[in-house]
Amino acid sequence: MTASVIDGKAFAAGLRARVADQAARFEQAAGRKAGLAVVLVGEDPASQVYVASKAKQTAECGMASFEHRLPEDTTQADLLALVDALNANPAVDGILVQLPLPRHLDEQQVVARIDPDKDVDGLTPLSSGRLALGQPGLVPCTPLGSLMLLKDRLGDLSGLDAVVIGRSILVGKPMAQLLLAENCTVTVAHSRTRDLAEVVRRADIVVAAVGRPEMIKGSWIKPGATVIDVGINRLPPEEGKTKGRLVGDVAYAEAAEVAGAITPVPGGVGPMTIAVLLRNALVAAHRNAG
Ligand code: GUN
Repeated sequence: MTASVIDGKAFAAGLRARVADQAARFEQAAGRKAGLAVVLVGEDPASQVYVASKAKQTAECGMASFEHRLPEDTTQADLLALVDALNANPAVDGILVQLPLPRHLDEQQVVARIDPDKDVDGLTPLSSGRLALGQPGLVPCTPLGSLMLLKDRLGDLSGLDAVVIGRSILVGKPMAQLLLAENCTVTVAHSRTRDLAEVVRRADIVVAAVGRPEMIKGSWIKPGATVIDVGINRLPPEEGKTKGRLVGDVAYAEAAEVAGAITPVPGGVGPMTIAVLLRNALVAAHRNAG
């Protein structure tokens, strides 16, 4: 069998178009643009690329983009003061503090300071609690984008066996909660899981979010399963090249021989994250304006 390729890039473009449409209607009704603030501390090159892309796509969707770039040696107090100012700014509907923060900063305290009504990343304790309790709230972008791709492909997920590999706060844990809410039977696997191959082999849905290049092998995949690869890993450069290839957490070519459907890297889950962020910002704008 050769898997169908799940085109996250195309799905994300469609979602952004719908968000742009709604953003225009929001502006007409509210007399202002919906606003998204992104905060970047330090010089991490990958984060700089993400943040630039977020700002560009925010503007393209017809929302106001507020970009705050702070130096590496920013203090906890200064960062908290910025979050407080954004919380109080009525033009800002959503706040995202790009993670990871430099090591001297207390990430949990900073995230917890974000007004839950502006928590477009869905990472504050209140948002996580709401997700766990099945109450409406803002949901982390990458897991929600992954779920959208799954539902688009499979429709009703009820009763399916899902394995999430990775237990991060950003992806693994919220992904498990979302799948549970869809009535999947959910297993969360991680670095200490025994016989991961066997666990993966049971799954109708595999979500890989471990951050280890090509760790999930094709022989582990149940024939016909749907595979969502959240990993984005850069391999060391080959001879004569300056940049290595981008690969996911799944050994794509092997897995595509067995799976029913699979997301590529790049062009799968990656583009969904920012599209869902923009969607979350608009949801927050409607709530904050209403
Ligand atoms: N770093 C990598 N992905 C994300 C994300 O979705 N949100 C935030 N805040 N930081 C990230």
